[in-house]
Amino acid sequence: MDATATVTPFSTLIRTASHEQHTEAETSTFMSDLLGGRLGVDAYTRYTEQLWFVYRALEEGSEALRDDPVAGPFIQPELMRSTELERDLAHLRGADWREGLEPLPATAAYAARVAECARTWPAGYIAHHYTRYLGDLSGGQIIRDKAEKTWGFERKGDGVRFYVFEEITNPAAFKRGYRELLDAVNADDLEKQRIIEECKRAFALNTAVFRDLGEVFPLSA
Ligand code: HEM
Repeated sequence: MDATATVTPFSTLIRTASHEQHTEAETSTFMSDLLGGRLGVDAYTRYTEQLWFVYRALEEGSEALRDDPVAGPFIQPELMRSTELERDLAHLRGADWREGLEPLPATAAYAARVAECARTWPAGYIAHHYTRYLGDLSGGQIIRDKAEKTWGFERKGDGVRFYVFEEITNPAAFKRGYRELLDAVNADDLEKQRIIEECKRAFALNTAVFRDLGEVFPLSA
């Protein structure tokens, strides 16, 4: 057995293990086109819709996990994004935003996996929680800035509220605290390894959503 596995903090292990998938998601064609300002606000809207399905699964599932000995410490109200996404969608799609809203196939598969973990495997749910929320607190801020400039949303206003964590005044400190939670996770080495595998799966599920979105919004130019 690799002796370093027992001494390297879990937060470092999970970050290092998902590094390659992170780069893949970050450099996906859809993300590159979106961040490169080459797509219209309709693509941004469709992307935000996909996020709503994913966060609904994450946050509906979180209620029942609040007192769970493994996932419980991660459930923090200041992270919740569903309300913000709904405000953004009302701005982007209008008051009847929910009407006719359907997930892309990859989004439906992603949300189903999150819901399944929430129901049956709290440690696996942590992998999904980490992949989304720590990402939103990090690279999400780059996306917000780009979206504001490209499509003219008010700074931190409707349309980009998803990226604004009103109750987290110091994201760097919050992320440090989050990594401490990961390091103290109530799981043995084998279970930690399984969480890392689920994290890689979470990244792959995100990349699949980008692939579906890329097919809906190919660059025609
Ligand atoms: C264009 C898209 C993206 C950009 C520009 C981006 C950028 C970044 C940056 C700069 C960090 C480092 C922050 C720090 O050191 O504290 C980070 C961390 C992170 N990102 Fe992304 N990212 C993108 C997409 C994604 C996606 C699609 C996911 C997964 C859904 C994701 C998940 C994460 C996670 C989990 C972390 C935290 C790593 C850790 O410190 O443990 N990111 N991202």
